[in-house]
Amino acid sequence: MKIGVIYSSKTGNTQKVADAILSGLPQNSAVYHVNEKPNAADFDFIFMGYWIDKGTADEEAVDYMKTITGKKVAQFVTLGAYPDSEHAKQSLVNGAACFGQNCEVVDSYICQGAIDPKLIEWMKQLDSDHPHAPNESRINRWKDASTRPNTEDLENAVTFAKRVLASLTS
Ligand SMILES: Cc1cc2nc3c(=O)[nH]c(=O)nc-3n(C[C@H](O)[C@H](O)[C@H](O)COP(=O)(O)O)c2cc1C
Repeated sequence: MKIGVIYSSKTGNTQKVADAILSGLPQNSAVYHVNEKPNAADFDFIFMGYWIDKGTADEEAVDYMKTITGKKVAQFVTLGAYPDSEHAKQSLVNGAACFGQNCEVVDSYICQGAIDPKLIEWMKQLDSDHPHAPNESRINRWKDASTRPNTEDLENAVTFAKRVLASLTS
């Protein structure tokens, strides 16, 4: 079985998770950035990684995800919000809807990823009535995200990869 780990990443968080997932897979598996445009049809199974941009998969990922059709896939995701938040749950649903026709998402992994400091600087200057303006809970969330994905997140990603693999081969 040929497994591809294909991801989009702007600041490196999702790339770290992609590398962790690869480490839990058989030796003939390979990892690709979406910009390398691997042919989705070449894989028996795809682990698709993206980061959350405005509540759904980032644009580079979406462009690639559309090209995956008729496949079972697993998705892995990083975002600034807490992974158990409603925003995270909805983002996973929105992202899963970006795959091409007749795809089945068999499993998902999501963890926090440090938010680009440039975006934080921009948000810090917003008026207090803006939905992204800094307040205590947002500042705490940005701080919590700043060290992610951490070792535990990456270990959990390896466990996720092994679990998905076991479900495919059982
Ligand atoms: C332009 C932009 C939009 C973002 N939108 C969201 C969002 O809607 N929800 C969220 O939880 N995080 C959001 N984030 C945070 C990223 O999803 C998070 O930092 C992610 O780990 C970045 O992944 P990367 O390092 O692989 O690029 C946004 C970040 C940027 C730069």
